[in-house]
Amino acid sequence: MMVASECAPLAKSGGLADVLGALPKALVSLGHRVAVVIPRYMGARQVEAERINTRMPVELGGWHFDPAVCRYEADGVTYFFVEHAGLYGRDGLYGDRHGDFGDNHLRFGLLCKAALEISKLYFPAQIFHCHDWQAGLLPLYLKAFGGNPDPMLNAAKTVMTIHNMGYRGIFPKPRMGELSLPSWLFRSDLIEFWGDISLLKAGLVYADGITTVSPTYAKEIQTPDGGFGLDGLLRARSSAVAGILNGVDYGVWNPETDTYLPAHYSVNDLSGKADCKLALLRELGLPDEAMNRPVLGIVSRFADQKGFDLIGQVAWQLFQDDVYLAVLGSGVPYDGLFRGLRERYPNRVGLRVGYDEQLAHRIEAGSDIFLMPSRYEPCGLNQMYSLRYGTVPVVRAVGGLEDTVENWPPESATGFKFNDYTGQALLGTVRAAVHAWADRDAWTAMMVRGMNKDFSWEAAARGYSRLYSALHPF
Ligand code: ADP
Ligand code: GLC
Repeated sequence: MMVASECAPLAKSGGLADVLGALPKALVSLGHRVAVVIPRYMGARQVEAERINTRMPVELGGWHFDPAVCRYEADGVTYFFVEHAGLYGRDGLYGDRHGDFGDNHLRFGLLCKAALEISKLYFPAQIFHCHDWQAGLLPLYLKAFGGNPDPMLNAAKTVMTIHNMGYRGIFPKPRMGELSLPSWLFRSDLIEFWGDISLLKAGLVYADGITTVSPTYAKEIQTPDGGFGLDGLLRARSSAVAGILNGVDYGVWNPETDTYLPAHYSVNDLSGKADCKLALLRELGLPDEAMNRPVLGIVSRFADQKGFDLIGQVAWQLFQDDVYLAVLGSGVPYDGLFRGLRERYPNRVGLRVGYDEQLAHRIEAGSDIFLMPSRYEPCGLNQMYSLRYGTVPVVRAVGGLEDTVENWPPESATGFKFNDYTGQALLGTVRAAVHAWADRDAWTAMMVRGMNKDFSWEAAARGYSRLYSALHPF
């Protein structure tokens, strides 16, 4: 039973949703029975789900919540939606324009407790696979208070997958009571974190297995630079920590079949990519002359993690090289940076601020180069999408970007990588890419190498399957 706060296509803010949309199906193909439990946000109401329970009693912090439970089956996966108008019936997954919702601890504490009840009633799970801090309390609720009277729950094992150490689910100590957390848990080797509590830490302390989404990130999070204060705990548990690289759902991300594109293309016939480029230029208000120059694509949350301040540092030099930017993203702090660039270089920067699934596909297809200068990147999916779309990635050599893009030697390279977190390092690497782009034959060979890479979910699903078997004698 997977427990998470996002699942594509119903509720998505980033790659976590893509993982929840694809990994369960891949596990089903290997013969597992898989359920996914997510909140029924406003936006997740578009599917016809059967309401199998109108009031499922769940006790949290001395209160009775009685959420409804809806069930929906697709591709062999059972989805359970936890429905509670007061907690989930609003726009936004985690917050609104005023910031994070003040009751997120309750929203996701309830999710964890409800998942355990759903398992008891409808889906006796052997493994609870918990994703990110929103599911971090589940291993604690299951294991911290001694044996469970339900024999199935008692034997169940838990896996905690870290998609992003930057989000640790930190709440003030007084929230503990509202989450049914007794005060003895407030210890630095349990859930205390710099005077507050961390719900991710709860998961990392109590889960039987810990994974993260690429092998390099599994090492980085065990260092002070990448551990966000939890590296000591992860080092102490390092024998339980594994890195399993995410995959790509090629049913959704494939330039041969992608219904959001104006034209299709493949390694055997790349001509449609030029049509996609021209359509993209026009969609974003960029001049047709850009057909003769490289277009650099960006699709991203505009979070600090993504490193776009490096572009800000060197923009004037970058545009001297006669390149164009096609940018889609949302959030802070980089929305202002890109708006400013668009104002200063209106003929060079095409920008859409907001969330737009279809345009994301068209930027992957219509750009020549894809930019991900991340400060840190647990896995990163967009660089793998861009490889399949023949859009050569320029990335910082961290986390999953390091694991999926090949830099050297040139005959086997699929993209360009840089190490130093500086504008100059980014600029130098973009310039190398722009220079390489001018050699059309060598560039096409590099595109084709990337398009032929296979990051399908099967390999990841096998990795998780092995882990589940090691933890639970099925
Ligand atoms: P992260 O999960 O850190 O945001 P990933 O590269 O793993 O980074 O995944 C990002 C996913 O979110 C991709 O599927 C990408 O296309 C999508 N995405 C990000 N921002 C937007 C946006 N503004 N509009 C549409 N899709 C977006
Ligand atoms: C997170 C990470 C991203 C990763 C995604 C899915 O949002 O930032 O690198 O690809 O989760 O695991």
